[in-house]
Amino acid sequence: DKALKDSKVVFVIGGPGSGKGTQCANIVRDFGFCHLSSGDLLRDEVKSGSERGERLKATMERGDLVPMEEVLGLLKDAIVSNLTETKCFLIDGYPRELEQGVRFERDIVPCSSVLYFDVSDATMTSRLLERGKSSGRVDDNEVTIRKRLETFHNQTEPVISFYERQGKVKKISAETGIDEVYVEVKKFMESKQ
Ligand code: AP5
Repeated sequence: DKALKDSKVVFVIGGPGSGKGTQCANIVRDFGFCHLSSGDLLRDEVKSGSERGERLKATMERGDLVPMEEVLGLLKDAIVSNLTETKCFLIDGYPRELEQGVRFERDIVPCSSVLYFDVSDATMTSRLLERGKSSGRVDDNEVTIRKRLETFHNQTEPVISFYERQGKVKKISAETGIDEVYVEVKKFMESKQ
C-alpha cells in the first residue's frame, strides 16, 4: 500500500483516435513510464474468452462505457503488478467519467496531472476510419465511432473541467502530425521531471 501511495500517476485523456496510445508510446520511450491503457486491458480480457470478457464485449462494440468496477479492478491489478519495475504510470483512457476519477484517487493514488489531447471530431473520425481498414478493431466503424464521440463529449468532457478547476490539466492540440504533437508533449513531460 505504501508503494502504491508513493507512485506517480498521469491520466491521459482525449476523444477516440485523439492519439493517446501513439503519444504514450513516445513518452515511454523517452521517459520510462509504465503505460497502461484501459482499452487494451479490456480488449485483453475480451480476447481471453472469460465470462467477464463476454459481458464487456457487447458494450465496447456499441461504444458505451463499461461498468467502472470492471475497469478500475483491471487497472489496479496492472499497477500493482508493475510496481516493482517503476513508480511512474501513464493511465491512458481513464477516467472517462467523473466517478472513475474520484474512485481511482480515493482507492489507489491521486493523479499528479492530466494530459488532454484536443482534436476535432472530423479529424478523429477520419483517423479511426483509416485505422479500421487494417486494425481489426471492431469499434472502428462509422456507427460506433459516432457513438464513441458522443460518449466522450457527454461523459468525459466533465472530467476535464473537473481537473481544470484543480489546475491539473495540460491541454495539447493534437490536430497536427504525430511528431509536432510530441514536441509539446515532451516539453510538458520535461517540465514535470
Ligand atoms: P480505447 O481503447 O481507450 O479507445 P479510444 O479512446 O476510442 O481511443 P483509441 O485507442 O481508439 O485511440 P487513441 O486516442 O489511443 O489514438 P491512437 O494513438 O490509437 O477504448 C475502447 C472502448 O473500451 C471504449 O469505447 C469503452 O467501451 C471501453 N473503455 C475503455 N476505457 C474505459 C473506461 N475508462 N471506462 C469505461 N469503458 C472504457 O491513434 C489513432 C489512429 O490515428 C492511429 O492509426 C494513429 O496512427 C493515428 N494518429 C495518432 N495521432 C496522429 C496524428 N497526430 N496525426 C495523424 N495520425 C495520427
